[in-house]
Amino acid sequence: MSVFFGVDYYPEHWARDRWETDAKLMQEMGLNIVRMGEFSWAKFEPGEGEFHFEWLDEAIALLAGHGIKTLIGTPTAAPPAWIIEKDPDILPVDSQGQQKGFGGRHHDCQSNVKYREHIRRLVTAMAEHYKDNENVVGWQIDNELGNSHEDLCMCDSCRHAFQQWLKKKYGSIENLNKEWGTVFWSQDYDKFSQIPAPKVTPTMHNPSLLLDWKRFCSDLVVDFQKLQVDIIKSICPHQPVTHNLMGLYDKTDYFDLASDLDFASNDQYPTGYYFTPPGQPSYEISACLDFIRSVKKKNFWMMELESGPTGGAFIGRMPRPGQLRLWTLHCIAHGSDTIVYFRWRTCLFGTEQFWHGILPHNGVPGRRYQELKDTVAEMVPVLKDIQGIVPKAEAAILFSYDQNNAIKIQPHHPELDYIEQVKKYYDSFYERNIPLDFISETEDFQDYKLVIAPLQFLMDAALEDKLMEYVKKGGRLVLTMRTGVKNRNNVCMGDMPLPGRLGGMLGIKIEDYDCPLGLTVKLEWTGTGIKDPGQEGVADKWCDIVTLGDAKPLAFYRSEYYKDTPAVTVNSYGAGKAYYVATEPDKHILGQLAELLREEAGLESLGESPKDVELTLRKGRARDYLFAINHTDCGQEVRIDRMWKRLDGCRENAFVVGGYGVNIYTRQSDAGQ
Ligand code: GAL
Ligand code: ZN
Repeated sequence: MSVFFGVDYYPEHWARDRWETDAKLMQEMGLNIVRMGEFSWAKFEPGEGEFHFEWLDEAIALLAGHGIKTLIGTPTAAPPAWIIEKDPDILPVDSQGQQKGFGGRHHDCQSNVKYREHIRRLVTAMAEHYKDNENVVGWQIDNELGNSHEDLCMCDSCRHAFQQWLKKKYGSIENLNKEWGTVFWSQDYDKFSQIPAPKVTPTMHNPSLLLDWKRFCSDLVVDFQKLQVDIIKSICPHQPVTHNLMGLYDKTDYFDLASDLDFASNDQYPTGYYFTPPGQPSYEISACLDFIRSVKKKNFWMMELESGPTGGAFIGRMPRPGQLRLWTLHCIAHGSDTIVYFRWRTCLFGTEQFWHGILPHNGVPGRRYQELKDTVAEMVPVLKDIQGIVPKAEAAILFSYDQNNAIKIQPHHPELDYIEQVKKYYDSFYERNIPLDFISETEDFQDYKLVIAPLQFLMDAALEDKLMEYVKKGGRLVLTMRTGVKNRNNVCMGDMPLPGRLGGMLGIKIEDYDCPLGLTVKLEWTGTGIKDPGQEGVADKWCDIVTLGDAKPLAFYRSEYYKDTPAVTVNSYGAGKAYYVATEPDKHILGQLAELLREEAGLESLGESPKDVELTLRKGRARDYLFAINHTDCGQEVRIDRMWKRLDGCRENAFVVGGYGVNIYTRQSDAGQ
């Protein structure tokens, strides 16, 4: 298995006589892979059935002459003008009923039959053309599916496809009426053909319709991708297929989307967009990386890693010295085995002329080139040892697109957001250097000592059983506010007090609740009462008013009419324990909870570090590697077991990590011992 480092390369943006220089510079930098072609439909097929692959053939061959392989992107995120002219219905329609125009990218309706025919023709020709090319190592389907689509398309074709999807799900219109509760506001349908796509209405749509629409949109994207996966797999089964996902972006269910891929890829721009300086917080990037590893429980490629300032009309910050190395090592530490930088050289024209690449506009290598060249040289030997060994955590967060969609439709509190909530729990473990995986509902929980399942708003008997079984067998489970409120059709359940059947396992009952709009509710963490009693904090966004059954309180509200009632509880159940967090505690209280969970579940922490300095472990065949990543701009000290030695041999101040620095520590691996 070779170790790949590479760039996103667009030879069609540059004069032919520059290609050789580019390839040489890439080779000197240690690069050996490029992704090409993902927006070049008009060059591949300037008119229907007129294929021109010679330019890419030439680029592939020239790069191969410098030891550089190619991964080809199918260019279906950018249907050319001639296709839109021929079949204008391909342009998507927004929720106002307005058709979008040609001129950006992703101006496509993914259910459009004619568009799919165009895709079938092109992708078949591409796969046939490249199936025997030994320099082509794989395929990326389309580009960032779901991006720019928002709620996709509400055209007649999509509406019809939605109706078919509903018919398959509900069988009869009577059943749909019953499940959705269409008796409310006279929304009873006589036939599926009456059901709308959720275009803007004078008031609000039925929440059941909205949730099904979200699921339909996700399924449509998965199906759209599968069309191309199937073509490529039937023609070139030996070439792996991937797609560039976008971390915790939520338009498509990535567990579903990735199930059709050989491996997942991710795009990461740590400075974020120019309007959110100084960029994404480090815990958030770590969460995204852990999530992408988790969608397939497999190491992944970074298909686009920022290599210069981001920009459009405005321009983001220049990556500080050390940051390009840091971002690279950060990705590797969380399970990325291949890094591809976006992009090689900053384009002179087009929408992204200020979205910078490694090389500046003039193409002369500078500081960023040199830093990445050194980084590649440093990391190749490490990757050889760790490649393919998947980092595995002892604890996991249950992640559900369904819960996210349902909460988005009715957030209760204007600031309540499922993904933000997930990130808060993630952060409380991240700060303690306790690794986490993400799992979907369909995975085996039993692999983990602790499962954190925030906001399980939608519930069914199967999930209830699975959660109870997990705890009964010894698992530690955290459930939170708004668990078990609704059935899967987004309809409230009224046959038991909240949180339904799970109340037995949790040892609590919820008979009342408060959305504390404009209020600060006081919270006190008392813990198990042995250590650190009396930590003060704040309960935010939602307060379940809990009646204790067998559960023991861990925290209390200290204001409002529910003052002195429990806000966090724990109950022993079978061989395990079930925790309930009835509110959104502030960071400090969440930290207390994380400490308790670490202790009670027996989780290993990798050591202690200051804020924004993380410790992350990759196991290797010969050695283990502990990455101490300092996301801040000044030197910081980490406290880790002294058995770890610096990989670079440095002994003086061995436990100080410089600003934007990463220290790699190693020890002999278990396997190597
Ligand atoms: C990504 C996209 C790339 C490029 C990059 C910079 O979202 O996949 O094609 O547009 O952002 O804007
Ligand atoms: Zn459409």
